[in-house]
Amino acid sequence: MAKKNKLGISAQALGHLMNAAAVAREGAVAPYSKFRVGAAVLTKAGEIVSGANVESASYGLTCCAERVALFNALTSGKRNFVAVAVVARAEGGPMPCGACRQLLAEYASDAKVFVADSRRLKVVKQFSVGELLPGAFLDFRPA
Ligand code: THU
Repeated sequence: MAKKNKLGISAQALGHLMNAAAVAREGAVAPYSKFRVGAAVLTKAGEIVSGANVESASYGLTCCAERVALFNALTSGKRNFVAVAVVARAEGGPMPCGACRQLLAEYASDAKVFVADSRRLKVVKQFSVGELLPGAFLDFRPA
């Protein structure tokens, strides 16, 4: 069996996922911030789907790389996400924003989140979704 790190993804799979996020980052549309972010999600079945941030002149409409990747995967019928990679030119890697954490909690709660500086893809920090968003809002039905 392939060697796995302590969070259950093989080093090879993690390498592929980080690379996919880095490649996706090239597609970022970030004319305002110039902060280019790439993300990739990995399904239990071994499929990788990626995305990058897209910005709007109406700044609030901007969509982060994590959500673009997740929406791309979800609308392609993918489920059972085991890992998410996020890459940007940022010391220590980019931390997902609150909105992305909410979506991850809803659709990828079991996934491990790996972040890295795009210049040092092998230096990853890893988080569980529960760690990133404790006590997530998941149920809108009245008690
Ligand atoms: N951004 C992401 O795509 N993901 C993150 O984890 C942090 C922020 C984007 C949104 C915006 O296009 C730019 O980075 C600056 O905030």
